[in-house]
Amino acid sequence: MTSPASPAPVDRPRPRRSCLAVPGSSPRFLEKAQGLPADQVFLDLEDAVAPLAKEGARHSIVDALNKGDWTGKTRVVRVNDWTTSWTYRDVITVVEGAGQNLDCVMLPKVQDAEQVRTLDLLLTQIERTMGFEVGRIGIEAQIENARGLVNVDAIAASSPRLETIVFGPADFMASINMRTLVVGEQPPGYDADAYHYILMRILMAARTHDLQAIDGPYLQIRDVDGFRRVAGRAAALGYDGKWVLHPGQIDAANEVFAPSQEDYDHAELILDAYEYHTSEAGGKKGSAMLGDEMIDEASRKMALVVSGKGRAAGM
Ligand code: GLV
Ligand code: MG
Repeated sequence: MTSPASPAPVDRPRPRRSCLAVPGSSPRFLEKAQGLPADQVFLDLEDAVAPLAKEGARHSIVDALNKGDWTGKTRVVRVNDWTTSWTYRDVITVVEGAGQNLDCVMLPKVQDAEQVRTLDLLLTQIERTMGFEVGRIGIEAQIENARGLVNVDAIAASSPRLETIVFGPADFMASINMRTLVVGEQPPGYDADAYHYILMRILMAARTHDLQAIDGPYLQIRDVDGFRRVAGRAAALGYDGKWVLHPGQIDAANEVFAPSQEDYDHAELILDAYEYHTSEAGGKKGSAMLGDEMIDEASRKMALVVSGKGRAAGM
């Protein structure tokens, strides 16, 4: 299936240090989420909502998007995956009802590129029918099983609407029969990092296509130190953010996925020094010394990453 080319929206990438899960069936949480300092909210129609509550949740989400105050937050709705019978109505009800107040649709359990392209095509038809700007609504793809991971390169290349690849550890661990019940923690009996390959695989596919990479949930919601440790692992690799399931995890995510003040200041210093040394006044050098450190074009690129994350975090 082919999909008409969609123009890339101008405001990508958006900050996503903390991506707050909000059950679409809970008017109380839909209200409360608006006042919390998460970079992104995703209003859930999938696993947080019981089958009989899904229809009502679609309408609660439309209402919350249209009437709520979501200033400063990326607004995402997670629909059900294509193997269910709910997906098309999730998308049609939410996007027809609140498409102008919605930034992205999150598609869970993505297994191949075609599933993303099908969502892209449906979004395009709805945008045309409703007179919305075509291509403005982005897509987030969750990788939650072996087939999705094996196809992640093609998935990451599948649509200009794609903004992020999201790791779904709970479903993923279940799908590969990993012997653990504690999401994010190492399975007993294995003394290396069981997540390293998966996280890196997703990160490589995301970066190849200029997408963000987001780590999924940490379910022990009262253990903020555990959250920081697991989030820190993903942040160190280069991930852009992580899901948060509880208000108590939000500040931790915002901190962990922003650079330290020291690293941010150092990055800005490298950028200033490099700009000077490569200018006419600085002798148009290719590399230069900053204190005891040699800096060159690669240093500038590394500094740009840290400085970009810092600026996005308001530093
Ligand atoms: C998230 O959806 C997960 O399965 O971890
Ligand atoms: Mg899942």
